[in-house]
This record gives sequence, C-alpha cells and structure tokens, in this order.
Amino acid sequence: MKSRHQTIRRWPRIALWLALLLLPTLALAEVKPHAAGIASANKQATEAGFEILAQGGNAFDAAVAVSAALAVVEPESSGLGGGGFFLLHRASDGKAVFVDAREKAPLAASRDMYLDADGNAQRALSVNGALAAGIPGLPAGLVLVAERYGKLPLKQSLAPAIRLARKGYIWSAKNAAMIGFRTEQLAKSEGAAALFLRKGKPPAKGDRIFNPDIAKVLERIAGEGHRGFYDGKTARTLVEGVKAAGGIWSLDDLAQYQAVEREPLRFQFQGEEILTSPPPSSGGVALVGLFQILSGYPLAEFDRVQRLHVEIEAMRRVYRDRAIYLGDPDFVQMPMQMLLSPYYAAGLRASIHTRKATPSDALPGISAGPEGSDTSHFSIIDSEGNIAAVTQSVNLPFGAAFVVPGTGFVLNNEMDDFSVKPGVPNAFGLIGDDANAIEPGKRPLSSMTPTILLGKDRVAAIGSPGGSRIITMVFLGLSKVLAGSSAAEAVSAPRIHHQYQPDSVSVEPGALSEAEISALTERGYTVAPAERPWGNMQVVIWNKQDRSVDAASDPRWEGVGGGESRDREMIFR
Ligand code: DON
Repeated sequence: MKSRHQTIRRWPRIALWLALLLLPTLALAEVKPHAAGIASANKQATEAGFEILAQGGNAFDAAVAVSAALAVVEPESSGLGGGGFFLLHRASDGKAVFVDAREKAPLAASRDMYLDADGNAQRALSVNGALAAGIPGLPAGLVLVAERYGKLPLKQSLAPAIRLARKGYIWSAKNAAMIGFRTEQLAKSEGAAALFLRKGKPPAKGDRIFNPDIAKVLERIAGEGHRGFYDGKTARTLVEGVKAAGGIWSLDDLAQYQAVEREPLRFQFQGEEILTSPPPSSGGVALVGLFQILSGYPLAEFDRVQRLHVEIEAMRRVYRDRAIYLGDPDFVQMPMQMLLSPYYAAGLRASIHTRKATPSDALPGISAGPEGSDTSHFSIIDSEGNIAAVTQSVNLPFGAAFVVPGTGFVLNNEMDDFSVKPGVPNAFGLIGDDANAIEPGKRPLSSMTPTILLGKDRVAAIGSPGGSRIITMVFLGLSKVLAGSSAAEAVSAPRIHHQYQPDSVSVEPGALSEAEISALTERGYTVAPAERPWGNMQVVIWNKQDRSVDAASDPRWEGVGGGESRDREMIFR
C-alpha cells in the first residue's frame, strides 16, 4: 500500500502529465479562427452554407448544404446525377478523410462499349445521352458526410437546396454562358428540354428558375437517407428512364452503389503539411510528384522562365505517369510507393534538361485535345477550424445533356473519363491505358483534386474545376498560398498547363509576356496561347497568427461565385 507521503510526492508528476496531455487541447483552443469562410461557384450556394453554420452546423453540414444547393443552382457543373470528392479535416481530433462519391461504370458496361465494329472510338456515345452516364455518387456522398461528420440532421442541411428548387433560383451569367454549349443536345432529351428550355430556347440571365422535380428527390433523400435515392421510386424512375433512352443501368447498379471513405494522401513541401486526393483521383499523386520534383531545385534563385521550365517539365512527367499507371484503386494495382517516393521524383528531376524542353515522345508511354470548363469546387473553414474541400462534377457542361423526365437533374457523362481505347484522348485530351479501361462497377479516373494545406501559420482549402487542368491549377494556386498570397491572389493568378500529350504548353491570355513566350519557344516548347482563361478556383485561408479567415472566388466568373468570410457575430446575427 502506498503511504500518504508517497501519494503526495507523486502529485507534481501527475500534474505535469496532465498538463502535457492537456497542452494540445489548450493549444488547439487558442488557434480557432475568428470567422468562417466559404468560397463556392455560386453566391446562392455560399449563402446556403452560411445559413447552416448559423443554425449550429459545422463545416461538414455546411458542405452538404453547399453541395446540394450547387446541385440545384449550377446544373451545368455538378449535381445529384453526378459525383464528387469530399476532403474533410476535423478540428477536434485531427481526423482527415477523403469521401469518394465518384460515379461507377454500370454492371453491364464493358471495355469496348464505345468502339464500333472496326474498333474506332465513338466518342459521341461516351459524351451524349443515357449510355454516357455512370451510376451517380453525389447523393451517397451527401448522406455519408451528414451522417458520419455532421452535427445536424440531413433534413436540415438539405433544406436550403429544397427551398431554392421550390421557390426558385436566379439563372446566372455562368448558367447562361454554359447552356449555350449544350442547347442542341439538351433539346434532344425530353426531360432536359422540359427542365431547361422554353420553346427550345434557354433561359436568360436573371430569370427565376423553379425545379419542383429535384425538390421531390431531395425531399426523399432528406426523409429516407441513402435509400431515398438508391432504392424505391427514385431508383425505379431513373432505371426505367435510362433504359428507355438506350442506357444500361439496372436496379442492382443503384442498390450496390456506396460512397467510400479513403485515406487522404499526405505530403510535406517546405516543411508544410498538405492533404490531398488519392485515387481514383489522379490529382493527389500528380501533385505530390510536382512538388517533390520541384523541391530539389533552388526555386528562389530562378528567374521566371527557368521556373516555368522546371514546372512544365514536371507537369509533363506526372501527367505521363497518370496516363500509364492510375485508375480505380478497387480494380488496379498501382505502384503507389514508387510514384510517391522522393527518390522516384529525384529520378524524374534528373531527366530534366537544365535549359531544353524534353519532347513528350522522348518519354515513351502512350501516344495521344481540347478543353472544357465545368465541374464545381467549394471550400469551407468553420469557426472551429473544421475544413471541407469538395469538388463535384457531372463532367462536361450539363453532363450527358440527358434528364430522365420528372427527376429534375442531368445525368453525368463521366464514362468519358475512362480510357475508351488506349491512346485515344477523351474530352480533355487525356489518354490512358489498361489501368483506366472500362470494367463493370469501376470508377473512372478523375482529375478532381480537392486539397487542404495544414501549414504551421496558414491553413487552406483549395480546388477548381477544369478537367485535366485541375491538377496544374491546384498546383499553381497552392504554390501561391505557400508563398504567402491572399485567397484573392491565389484564385486570380495566371495559369499555364502541360499534360504530356498533346506536347504543348497551354497559356491563359496574358499569363506570359511575349519575351517569356519567345524564351520558352527557344528552349524547344510549343506554346499554345488559349483564347479563353480556364478554371473556377475557390479558396479559403485561415491565418493562424491573427486568426482571420480569407475567402475568394475565381474572378474569371466575376460576380457569380461567392467567396466570403464572416465573423461569428455576423453568422449568428
Ligand atoms: O473527374 C474529372 O476529372 C472530370 N470529370 C472533371 C470535369 C471537369 O472539371 C469539367 N470542367 N472543365
């Protein structure tokens, strides 16, 4: 038995241990943000997120609200007929999770389903209409995030989206611009025409749009959770409608669909920790590669052209690896250890000439396009320090441009993200091989790259739409944030892009000077100035020093996006 004296002597040690145990909690408590920030591609969706924060929800409840609101107000970019990735970081215990709500190939899909009798790819089939649609994942993602990470009932977080659908939302400049690309195709689908066209013409900017059909589907999800979409009336309507239009979905496809929790990729750059997206996103693996290749250079000593040179060469190499190795982790073995290793990056770095471009054909892989500008990213940091970086998509504008009558949402054309034939580029000019070939129940490889910076002084959530260019955008935007830029500076920074094939550097208007373009051309690059800028980046940064939160929306869609931070008093007003 211990003497009283012994017990008393132990006290200082116990107190010390207790203090040590409590220290992280106290430290965490000190660095909570003063405010919350939300940046999304549409102000009405950002507002939905703040509404849920005001009701006591956390960043994950707000993510559900923003995601569902975007599904209503930004149908060209994402929605219930599509999928997405939710990268979450919880402040209370530091848990990080990647919720994979990516679409899956239907069980009746087959490797050559988009090839004709001569083996030629029939790209129209993987892009337009019911056969182009994978099994949607976003509804499952909403339910999973709300149930496992939210504080509020799903019903409450979906309420703003339901209200927008029932009481109407405002057709934005972006809605109006994007529908122009797809009007002809939308007119061919009875359901899409009824939803989006008036006597064959799209709505005008500023019109109020009502969508009672999607409200009913959202209400079913609110009431029954996962089953509200993947079983019962919604599932039956979808399967019947898809089959009637030549698609191959079955009730089994919907019954088997589950969103999956995966371990995010974690890496360090300049001593800062970064969380990003694992396969079936290709973005995180590429991002790790890009930063690791660059970490071996004295970047601060480089002039602009030399920095561009090493960045473009790094881009070329990581996109080549994407094409060769990456696919759905549930189906393919990927050399992840190799791809993520600093030694592998050092080997790639060693293959970069100090001043000359490496022709892509000198790096044999797969032989090889165009551009696109949809999908939706949003970033949220709440006043507890919880973080959500979410990218969701239906792939091309208005997805497959196909709506099952009575459902109120377009189906995706994410099947085009598979490699329909080795070496044949998809809508984003991306090529692939066996790893990303079509198989029943497989998820197509994605470029969506929601990413979180857990820096010592700055925490940030970042992402963008933009197809194959998402990865280089996140890389350039994150590089800005790491260098101390504000959210507005990060989202507005000019963009360049290289994706191995085609072997050219895309350059946004005004991104490079004439002198820089000449210097790159001299080094052996084919510089392809783009006619239009690309992307729609949404960034939220929490500066731990002064506890401020800074949110910004890409200025390329000026006036439509909503990047805003609000202090506690404003939220709970
Ligand atoms: O998952 C992907 O990589 C594509 N479906 C994303 C499409 C996209 O960003 C469209 N915007 N340009």
